[in-house]
Amino acid sequence: MALGAAAENLISAAKSLGLDLSSWNFCAPGPDDVFIHGSLAEHLETDGFPENPTWKRRHTNRLPYVPEISSHVLPELEACHVGQAKVNAITGAEIKTLAAWVRQASEVRFQTREVNEWFASSLRYGNALQDLIEGLNVKTLALPPGGVGLLKLMSNWNRMQWLNRFKVYKLFASIEAINFQKTPLVIAIYGPSEKASIFEAGRCLQKVWLKVTELGLSAHPYYVVADLLGRIESGGVPLQCMRQAENIKMQVHEKFGKNRTLHCLMRVGIPAGKIEFSGRLPIDEIMCKASIRS
Ligand SMILES: Cc1cc2nc3c(=O)[nH]c(=O)nc-3n(C[C@H](O)[C@H](O)[C@H](O)COP(=O)(O)O)c2cc1C
Repeated sequence: MALGAAAENLISAAKSLGLDLSSWNFCAPGPDDVFIHGSLAEHLETDGFPENPTWKRRHTNRLPYVPEISSHVLPELEACHVGQAKVNAITGAEIKTLAAWVRQASEVRFQTREVNEWFASSLRYGNALQDLIEGLNVKTLALPPGGVGLLKLMSNWNRMQWLNRFKVYKLFASIEAINFQKTPLVIAIYGPSEKASIFEAGRCLQKVWLKVTELGLSAHPYYVVADLLGRIESGGVPLQCMRQAENIKMQVHEKFGKNRTLHCLMRVGIPAGKIEFSGRLPIDEIMCKASIRS
């Protein structure tokens, strides 16, 4: 999904420079790890680079959103499908059903050691610039009062396990689902689950996100349901949660089709207020990491 999103960013940037990409091929990486095939003319003639391009403005906004959204947004976002990865724009009462999936999948997530430890290790509490660009800074999370304390409490797995004896995972999961349930628009990215389609889903998610940004709206992706579906396949769901997980999977198949999976959910709207955004890693650090791997 990340490579698909990177490809879509590149497409967006190239289009804004007026480049013709019709002979280029974007696909899931093969054994050579390459996922973009194409060639550029030696001399690139452009009117200059856009000062504040859409792909730089795209961000995650975890604030609550105002309840209204213009209906013309829906067809514009549904048109962002890529290959077999499709977009379903959902409004009204059906959002409650999807919010229930998020809450139930989240209950499993807070009982899954691997996800909790990964999440805890990504959190950053500091005020230094590095704390805002490197991991997930708590300032970007739009936490309720006392939220930072709760996060610190759950960051230790032994403590979390002890708290879960009193079903504390239900409290955390309902906090996670609150803003989702109240949102005016949910976007579901769905399609087949093999590698090529996951790449397309990454492109599709980013295409939607760039369009959302272009329309002056914000978005907040929720991966918890998609992650759970993947964990069912890889055997990563705690035994006591398997029934709940299978029940969500059945509902996903009922809604999107037997041979389809849900790649990501995303709430979309106009944020009620202002919040800090995640910073960006310097480009030379990304290039450096990439060259170490190759
Ligand atoms: C595929 C995908 C799934 C994500 N899932 C979640 C999620 O479940 N919850 C959440 O708060 N943020 C989620 N995010 C947002 C990332 O945490 C966010 O992109 C990251 O913190 C960087 O911030 P930025 O989007 O503002 O650049 C997801 C992002 C992607 C690309």
